[in-house]
Amino acid sequence: MPDPVAVNSMFARIAGRYDAANLLLSGGVDRWWRRRLVGAVVAARPAEVLDLATGSGDVAFALARALPPATRIVGMDFCQPMLDQAISKQTRNGHGARIEFRQGDGLALPCPAETFDAVTISFGLRNMADRARALCEMRRVLRPGGRLYVLEFSQPTEWFRPLYYFYTKRLLPPIAGWLTGDKAAYAYLNASIEAYPGHAAMSQELRNAGFRDVSCARLTLGIVALHSGTR
Ligand SMILES: C[S@@+](CC[C@H](N)C(=O)[O-])C[C@H]1O[C@@H](n2cnc3c(N)ncnc32)[C@H](O)[C@@H]1O
Repeated sequence: MPDPVAVNSMFARIAGRYDAANLLLSGGVDRWWRRRLVGAVVAARPAEVLDLATGSGDVAFALARALPPATRIVGMDFCQPMLDQAISKQTRNGHGARIEFRQGDGLALPCPAETFDAVTISFGLRNMADRARALCEMRRVLRPGGRLYVLEFSQPTEWFRPLYYFYTKRLLPPIAGWLTGDKAAYAYLNASIEAYPGHAAMSQELRNAGFRDVSCARLTLGIVALHSGTR
């Protein structure tokens, strides 16, 4: 499991180049993945949403664009330099002025129980030191009937794995190192993707944490999966 101190300082180091690196390394597909997440949340019409591990805020901004103005949106992350990126985008573009960006740890959420109708987490759960505890925390802050949406890397379709892991192991770390000046951060990315469970095991983790009506959509040959479950 990842070491939270190392994860926090790694994101602090790459915060300023995080958005650009995402765009280049995924060829822009990451935007489509986040759109799928936001589409699922919007269909449920939540009144209060927590975007956990919000990072530079792109899911929170997309939610703010797509949901009615009265919807309360909180973007939370434990890494202040990542939140600073979100806040500077908010100030610069006036995007999502109503989003409340707050520091908080996914393993001990600073929120009362039963606060939100939806919790989203995009490419965040893989980085958490204790996934079971993080899922329990997300369930705790959801109202009964509220829904969790987890967008995360997964294990791709069998035939595509060799090509995919060639990219993530051999090509991605040097390219990302050149782009961000931090090759180690992207070696970690590859290791964390490889260690992450496939879609069936992840669905089971949601059920083990007490979620019901668990569903999963595999995106882009299973590179990414969108899991959801109801409290
Ligand atoms: C890969 S980024 C994802 C950012 C954003 N959600 C996105 O889709 O681009 C992962 C984020 O998870 C945050 N994170 C990792 N562990 C965390 C924890 N225990 N509590 C809160 N945030 C955490 C990191 O600080 C980082 O901003």
